[in-house]
Amino acid sequence: MYNFGLSFMTKNKLFLQTLSGHSTDRVAFWYMRQAGRYLPEYMERRKVAGSFLDLCYSPDFAVEVTLQPLRRYHMDAAILFSDILVVPHALGQHLEFRQGEGPVLTPVNTAEKIAMLGMDGFHEHLAPVYETVKRLHREIPETTTLIGFAGAPWTVATYMVGGRGSTDQAATRELAYQEEEVFQNLIDLLVLATSEYLIRQIRQGAEVIQIFDTWAGALPDDQFYKWAIMPVKKIISNIREFYPDVPIIGFPKGAGCRYPEYIRSTGVSAVSIDTAMPLEWARDHIQPLCPLQGNLDPLLLVAGGVALKRRVLEILDCLSEGPFIFNLGHGIVPQTPPENVAFVSELIRDYQKK
Ligand code: CP3
Repeated sequence: MYNFGLSFMTKNKLFLQTLSGHSTDRVAFWYMRQAGRYLPEYMERRKVAGSFLDLCYSPDFAVEVTLQPLRRYHMDAAILFSDILVVPHALGQHLEFRQGEGPVLTPVNTAEKIAMLGMDGFHEHLAPVYETVKRLHREIPETTTLIGFAGAPWTVATYMVGGRGSTDQAATRELAYQEEEVFQNLIDLLVLATSEYLIRQIRQGAEVIQIFDTWAGALPDDQFYKWAIMPVKKIISNIREFYPDVPIIGFPKGAGCRYPEYIRSTGVSAVSIDTAMPLEWARDHIQPLCPLQGNLDPLLLVAGGVALKRRVLEILDCLSEGPFIFNLGHGIVPQTPPENVAFVSELIRDYQKK
């Protein structure tokens, strides 16, 4: 049993029970990016909505798309359908999602450009997201947990500074070295905005929060504390002023042996581990600190067959004795056959804990 909030309502929700450190009869599961392009019914809705951002900002569509994977696979958690980049959008940065290119933003890489961003109109811009959370809270099945989320400031900043996705985050690392104060101002703004954004999601009914730091692993050793740990620690302490017990899952992807430090320093309630993390190491060094979530390779969900079955069972055998939520090491990719997701979901459901 862990030394954090056991007073939140676990009801009959397997996911919340696992997060509070209680043992459960079956392993809880959900998948990052469980709603999305691998589902034909998602593609249909996106076509009707017009664009991905239209989907995110229309509560009717966003609720529907959140529920689609649950109808097929009955996961233990639903994650709000939105994107981490609605935060910079709401702060005033231009954002579009281009077909085949992903997100494109007008780079914000100088003190002047950062000064143009701000909280004016922030919550009005995000009102449709809050409305989506409120409706989902009413509409998801009784045994399903609703996850709200945001990107961690470092990862969101890499898109804001670089203007698009990159493999090495070079533009942002350069800015952080050359103009540390300027970059700190951007991070501070994101800490404020993200804290308020998540507090409002919880107010509308999000029961658990996940903070995605997809590019944490791109940070050099001596920069990790400053840009991956400190901002998340501040966000968590801001949330805890209002909601001391709400479980918060951190996902510092690629943090490797720094996971334990991340857990101790940020105050997260649980962590999601990426595909590269050795299972035994996670069991021995992370699981004693907090519940664990992860870490199937999303490409095995594409490949299917015996390799998929073998790995799912290895993960369950290694980690399900402690508090464990089955998930992927990163999001589902568009070429995933939906029947493989059904197959894994059944495997987990039928798995007998040791
Ligand atoms: O998990 C879910 O089902 C909830 C929804 C969700 C999306 N994005 C929807 C989405 C969540 C939790 C995210 C998080 C997100 N968004 C992250 C962190 C986690 C991760 O995957 O690393 C990041 C880095 C982003 C930014 C982002 N959004 C990128 C780089 C892209 C383009 C790449 C891609 O997969 O297309 C997106 C687009 C996006 N976000 C889509 C979805 C369903 C695809 C949009 C479409 O329909 O074309």
